[in-house]
Amino acid sequence: MLQAELLPEETRPFDESYIGKSEMQGNYRMDLRNFTEKEYNKFVKVDTVRDWSMLSWKDVGRPFEVKNYSADRHQYEQEHGKPMSAHTSWQYFNKSFHEWFSKDIPHEQQKEKEKFFASLKSFKPGEIKSALGDVVRIQLWNYVHRIQDGIWDPRGKRTLFEGMDVSKPRILFLGAAEGYEAMQLAAMYPGAKVVMVDYDEYCKTTRFEHFPDSYPFLGENPQTGQPKIYYKDDLNIEYVVDDIRNLPYGKEFDIVLSVGLLEHFPDEYKPEVVDWHRKFLKPNGYVVMTTPRNQLRSRIYYNIFADVMNHTYRELMTVEQMGLYMYENGLDILKSGFIKVHNGIIAKAR
Ligand SMILES: C[S@@+](CC[C@H](N)C(=O)[O-])C[C@H]1O[C@@H](n2cnc3c(N)ncnc32)[C@H](O)[C@@H]1O
Repeated sequence: MLQAELLPEETRPFDESYIGKSEMQGNYRMDLRNFTEKEYNKFVKVDTVRDWSMLSWKDVGRPFEVKNYSADRHQYEQEHGKPMSAHTSWQYFNKSFHEWFSKDIPHEQQKEKEKFFASLKSFKPGEIKSALGDVVRIQLWNYVHRIQDGIWDPRGKRTLFEGMDVSKPRILFLGAAEGYEAMQLAAMYPGAKVVMVDYDEYCKTTRFEHFPDSYPFLGENPQTGQPKIYYKDDLNIEYVVDDIRNLPYGKEFDIVLSVGLLEHFPDEYKPEVVDWHRKFLKPNGYVVMTTPRNQLRSRIYYNIFADVMNHTYRELMTVEQMGLYMYENGLDILKSGFIKVHNGIIAKAR
């Protein structure tokens, strides 16, 4: 069905009476709750470091590098006789990851279970192992994305994003992919103008374009200060397909954001990546960054999802390591902590 043919109740299914509620949909969870104090203490820890100037690499250690690459990357490198470039690795990653976001999860769970039982009848160990792997992956995806909502984590992100002193901000999202976090920010800071940047065109044409119109973002009504629900179409968004290194902007953004970017660069490139965030920032603007946490469950996740996710260089780090990269490269850290699966930091240029 074409977008234009959708009825209003299909594209905007949740009105203000849903605020405070959460429901699982086929391929995502809608969550219009805020954390209770108990949940806040369990999932969000903010400001674990008092004085960043006191930390050293000797204290915090180095990030953990995820080394088990996807079968697609191995195959590509064999066929081409050279390493996969960063740009190509992102094209593979975005296509593969988007397929998982598009799945009707209950339907796929049923399908994979049936496939597994059929494979048992084949008595072929290879077929059984592969079918079992598919069952495990869809169950894990259901748990991580739909039950726990660990990837989008709207409650964690809102907690991290709240409290910035900006009005109708201009927001720049570096390596935007589907653009989720800039949309959440734009709902919280009404009147925002967002520029999303990604050099993989598929992110604009498919990951962002096909992001569900029906997904509700909890934000603020600027007239009343009360909670209000926004949908993708309510937000002012320009999507630019370009390399971050080519962007023509000056220091004109109130918020520069990245989600899962810094950890994809080995140490020799990290100063440049941090600098990308300062470069486009107004003098009093905010840098907002998140990176995946180095925890056992994340290591297991990247192992089981290696074929889906591991096309690019990737590290898992602690919030202290992430903060030290930022602090050493000229940012002052205002707020730091971790949400479900990511570390989060809000900073200003020193
Ligand atoms: C790991 S993704 C961000 C995570 C995202 N939330 C997701 O769900 O996939 C990082 C994005 O940055 C983009 N990217 C990496 N280097 C870039 C560059 N130099 N210029 C523009 N985009 C870049 C990649 O194409 C990718 O879509």
